This record gives sequence, structure tokens and C-alpha cells, in this order.
Amino acid sequence: MGTLFLRGGTVVDGTGAPGRRADVAIRDGRIASISSGGDAPSAERVIDVGGMVVAPGAIDIHSHSDERMFVNNAMESALHQGVTTVVCGNCGGASAPVLGLAASELDRDLARHDVERTWTSFGEYAAAVERAGSSINVCSFVGHGTLRMCVMGAEARDATAGELAAMKALLASSLAEGAIGMSTGLIYPPSAYGATDEIVALATIVRERGGLYASHIRNEGDRLLDAVGEGIEIGRRSGVRVQLSHHKASVKRNWGKVRDSTALIEKARSAGTDVAADQYPYTASSTGLAVTIPNWAHAGGPLAMCERLRDPAVRVRIRDEYVETGRNWDAIVIARAAKHPEWSGRSVAALAGEVRRDPLEWTCDALVEHDGAIDIVHHSMSEEDVRFVMAKPYVAIGSDSSANAPYGALSFGKPHPRSYGTFPRVLGRYARDEKIVTLEDAVRKMSGLPASRLRLRDRGVLREDAAADVMVFDPARVADVATYEDPHRYPEGIALVLVNGEIALEAGETTPARAGRFLRLGTDAG
Ligand code: CU
Ligand code: ZN
Repeated sequence: MGTLFLRGGTVVDGTGAPGRRADVAIRDGRIASISSGGDAPSAERVIDVGGMVVAPGAIDIHSHSDERMFVNNAMESALHQGVTTVVCGNCGGASAPVLGLAASELDRDLARHDVERTWTSFGEYAAAVERAGSSINVCSFVGHGTLRMCVMGAEARDATAGELAAMKALLASSLAEGAIGMSTGLIYPPSAYGATDEIVALATIVRERGGLYASHIRNEGDRLLDAVGEGIEIGRRSGVRVQLSHHKASVKRNWGKVRDSTALIEKARSAGTDVAADQYPYTASSTGLAVTIPNWAHAGGPLAMCERLRDPAVRVRIRDEYVETGRNWDAIVIARAAKHPEWSGRSVAALAGEVRRDPLEWTCDALVEHDGAIDIVHHSMSEEDVRFVMAKPYVAIGSDSSANAPYGALSFGKPHPRSYGTFPRVLGRYARDEKIVTLEDAVRKMSGLPASRLRLRDRGVLREDAAADVMVFDPARVADVATYEDPHRYPEGIALVLVNGEIALEAGETTPARAGRFLRLGTDAG
């Protein structure tokens, strides 16, 4: 393979160091040299990147693209943002290992996209991802909810000693096969049914193997501080390194609490617990409509929940119970409902009002009709909180989305615009326009910082001999374009993306290269 030479750009290397004019040579998938003012060393191809920033490709530390490469291996909405690695298996749910209920639930999910599962273990999943040939690199956590489903279904109770031992064994073998750690989703059953002690026991295995523990904490609203406290406690007791996912305060009465939650994080950090966080740069979240149903009603899994929701007596019982979303029906907007494309972009309040139905009744009916699978966008956060969290140096950027595309099966509905806009939005709106962080720090938050959390050995920083995952962008033009009303739109200003030294995106077009690798704990990380 010949040398590729990126000439005349400003190198922002992902460490936070000031940008500097330098030429970057790439050979055999790696950065061969970063130098100022030399001639192109007999390069096969020279690309003039004058006026552009040359930065490490973004590492999306919080992705849900676990199965997207089997639907469309171009991973377009991620690639077009300059993302070169997605970290999957977040919020307690992963695609491997899968046994029992975990396998049947995944199969239901995959069937919606006509994908057939060819794996059971984590290692087999990794091999399947490699065979699918993704345009960008992939790695994954093991999901705590997935582990529970493998071993004990979706039962709403503590694990027995035997079940805990089985989960530990599955976790250990998955880490040995390359999983980069474990995630919990403590608002989502069945992960939510796990007590702190159970998670500490599993996190201890993660620590022993050098992995990371990522958590969608137990509450991001009224009980945010308790939930952050639990995350810190898990780190302190197990010794595991902790990543608090998509840090935020949800629902208006809780706005501003991120000042207290980040103070807790900082106190723990100075006391020696390795805890950090990430965020997506938007004031709306996105999840399943099923979060409006209390945890007890999820026992047995989504199909069992739907069966229960048919019972009017159950609906009466559900009505008065606390749920974190506050059932703010005006602010809950349908993103994707397979049987009703016309619902996309409309609030539950409006849709229920149109048919003169109570919104909770409407929600129960809609969930039953869709076997529990409806995606929502929930407008629940404050802009001031987003800015406050972003200014914290230990907060990385993660999209909390899965890869979509403006064509084909993945163009369905109105998913959260973060799927298309997260990283350019931080570079453009928050760094360049609002100056919440410097450009160098914005780049660090999406490359060097997530790489260090994951202990990715040779990615996330542009230096000689590192893997050549690179994005080139126009600092004056870079911007997100996707909106809640019109989300399937690629950002502006991303000029070039290299994955393992191959050009994956050029002049706004995805190339045929599928150079992404599956990154494993042990060989690539840890
Ligand atoms: Cu998530
Ligand atoms: Zn989450």
C-alpha cells in the first residue's frame, strides 16, 4: 500500500494540545509521520487539507449500533460525523452473549430488520460483526440486563447464589473473548431488578480483567443524586473504573441538579475513585415508550408486560405510580412505531387527544399493538445544564444513538437527531459558536478522552504509529443539520474520514471501503 499524505492542515491531536500546522503521512493503516514543512515522501496520493483541521476520528463511547452493521454496514449517520469507532452494548443491553430470553428477545428485534442471528457467545458475535464488514470500528460492553436474561429471564427479584455465579462466569468468558467491560441500565428491567450488591459482584470481575463499567444510573430525575451515589459506591467497593452515561437532570423540577451531581463526582474523583461521565449535546432524550410503565409491570419481559397491559385492573394500578419521565405527555414524542409511521414526530398528548383517549390508556394500547417496541423522543432537559456538564473536563461526548441512513430501512420515522448530529454539533455550535469549550478540548472529549476511558491502545490521539483513524473537517463550516422535525440529514463540514488508513468518506460520499475492525479487550484495549 502506498502512502497517503494530508498536506497543509492544522493538526488537533486529541490530547487537548493547541492545534499546529503539520502534514500527516499515513502508511499501512497507521500514522507514519506528523511533520511540519516537509515534502510529500513519494506519496501515492496527496490531499490538500489547507484550512482544515486534521483530528483523530471520533470514538462514540455511548452507541447503540450493536446490530446496525448487519442492516447497513456503511454505518452512515455515524461515519458522516467523523465517527471511526462505536462503543456498543450500552444501557445494560448488548447483542452478546445471548441465551434463553436474551436470545429470543434479540431474535425478535433482528426479525424486524430481516437479520438472522449466527452467534451465541461474545466471541461469535465479534466474528459476525467482522464478517459483516463495518465501515467503522466496533467494540462492545456486555449488558447486565442481557446477562440477567441469559441466566434468569426477566424475573423481578434478586439473583440466587447459583444465578449470580452463572452471570459471573458468562461475564468472565465474554471479557476473555474481547468485551471491553459491562454496562448497566438501572431504569430498564431486567437490569433494574439487580441490587447494588449484585452489580458490585459483577463489577469486581470487570475490574480484575481491566475493563470499564458504564452505567445508565438508576434515576436521572428526582433521585439523581442517590443514583450517582450508587454509581460511585459501585466503583469504590469493586475498584472498577466507572463511566456514568449521558449525564443529565431530567424533568423541569430537577433542572440545575447537575451542579450537585457533578460535585459528587468531583468529590469521589479527588478521593481516589475513578469515575467520569459522558453526555450528548441535546435537551431531549430518546428511549422506549415502555419507560412510562413502572418496573414491576415489566416482569417476564416485553411480551409478558403487554399481556399485563391488556388488563384494565393493571392499568388502574399503573396510573398513580412514580415513573422518572413524569409522564409528561406533551413532551413525549413518538420517534418510531413500526405499525404507525404517521405517528412519527407527534406527541402522545396530541395523538391521544385526536382519538379522545386518555394518554396513559393510549400508551398502553400502543405498546400492546407493537409488542412493547416504540421509540420516543422526550424533551426533558435544560440548555443551561447541557452547557454546564459540557464544560467539565472529564465529560466525554457520546451520541446514545444507533447508526441510521437517509435511505432504505434505517430511514424510517423520526429518530433523535443525535444519530446524525452529535459530534459536529459539539465542534460547531458548542465550541466554535458558543465557546463552551475550546476546539482542542471538544476534539479531546470525542477522541483522546474516550480512548483513555476504554484504554484503547493506539487510537484517539494522532501520533506516529497510532492507528490511522482520522477525521478532517472545516472548522468554519462544521455544523449539525439534523433537527427533530427532519432528522435524517448529514452534517456539514466533515471533509474526509479515514478508518485504519483507508478512506471511508470523501467529498460527502461514503466510499466502498469497509475497513472497520472489531476492537477487543486484551489485544486492542485494557
Ligand atoms: Cu444508551
Ligand atoms: Zn441510557
